[in-house]
Amino acid sequence: MILPDKFLLLVSALLLALPAADTTAGEPRSGYEYIKQCTRDMQDDDFENPGMHTLEQGQQLFNMTPEGPGKSCAVCHGSEGDGLDVRRIARNRSKPVPKKST
Ligand code: HEC
Repeated sequence: MILPDKFLLLVSALLLALPAADTTAGEPRSGYEYIKQCTRDMQDDDFENPGMHTLEQGQQLFNMTPEGPGKSCAVCHGSEGDGLDVRRIARNRSKPVPKKST
């Protein structure tokens, strides 16, 4: 028979091990999986999603030619931003990633 002290220790060890096993086992998951259905519905609907307004504003600013000698972002990065390196932005690097010599 397991003594109460050892039983508590065993249960504590299992509880500590469970979350660690969960995070290492799976693929990264989108936060979309954890939000409520009503929030998903809002996010999926372009007219209901408040983020879309900000996205449109950003698109306008990106394509807008500033006053003075400046250029619009779109001149160099394309009107849809297709010239941007999204992987570098995601990693938050301001310098180019050095290419590995082969
Ligand atoms: C005259 C051309 C030019 C204009 C105008 C310009 N960029 Fe860039 N941008 C570049 C170049 C070239 C790089 C790559 C720099 C490097 O390799 O370090 C870059 C890099 C970036 C990056 C880093 C990701 C990447 O693709 O390397 C972001 C984000 C970015 N620009 C946003 C903007 C925004 C927002 C504007 C407008 C406010 C803008 N840029 C205007 C030329 C330009």
